[in-house]
Amino acid sequence: MNKKGRLVCVGTGIKLMVHMTPISKQQIEQADIVFIAVASSLMGSWIKELNPNIHDLGQYYQPGKSRLETYKEMIAAIMQEVRAGKNVCAAFYGHPGVFALAPHRVIEIARKEGYEAHMEPGISAEDCLYADLAIDPGKFGCQHYETTQYMIHNKNIEPSAYLILWQIGIAGDQELTQFNTTEEKLEALREKLTTLYPESHEVILYESSTVLFKQSRIEKIELQQLADVETSLETTLVIPPVRNK
Ligand SMILES: C[S@@+](CC[C@H](N)C(=O)[O-])C[C@H]1O[C@@H](n2cnc3c(N)ncnc32)[C@H](O)[C@@H]1O
Repeated sequence: MNKKGRLVCVGTGIKLMVHMTPISKQQIEQADIVFIAVASSLMGSWIKELNPNIHDLGQYYQPGKSRLETYKEMIAAIMQEVRAGKNVCAAFYGHPGVFALAPHRVIEIARKEGYEAHMEPGISAEDCLYADLAIDPGKFGCQHYETTQYMIHNKNIEPSAYLILWQIGIAGDQELTQFNTTEEKLEALREKLTTLYPESHEVILYESSTVLFKQSRIEKIELQQLADVETSLETTLVIPPVRNK
């Protein structure tokens, strides 16, 4: 039999207020406590209107501190409330299961301990990307990698399919302690990509708008320009197939 505490991880979507699914909103409203890991203070304020009892997981991030440590602390904070028998909701921006370690891990732990725990999907940056860039991942196939993992491991990339690199804004951060990247690290990424793609290949820096009525960043550049670009924690790099006609 399940123990009394319960956990649901929900997604807030990317765009403030308009991307959250009704079921995620309901879970937030009905929870005893809501943990939030969101990308903007506006999103945090809105969730606080839905349920005033919030605990901001953003407080566990610190410059120079390993994100693995941060995730451990987030999981411990969430599990403490689940073990106390509460109806716990943890809201993560985008889709809680897409390029997000803590939601998967905390659900696994809660279930192992005998608590009811599940995930509700959300609209991720990936969904916005397909819509804004008019990409159908089924047309040529689509590969997704975390940028640093792509840089340090030998992944088998298929250049005739799309390649989406997440977290280019922290490219090359092997210690998981940084919140930005450097020109040198982007240059190393460019070099690695040019073993597969021509220097003149068009790639796209993508940042979905997080509020209504604001344009997304869709910056098309040649691969050879990659070391000189501005990136943020919201930038995703899209590499179209080499033969896309
Ligand atoms: C830790 S992952 C979280 C992804 C999130 N769970 C989702 O479903 O979109 C962070 C990465 O997602 C991508 N991302 C986050 N917000 C984005 C946005 N507004 N536009 C484009 N990509 C975004 C970037 O690659 C960023 O480095």
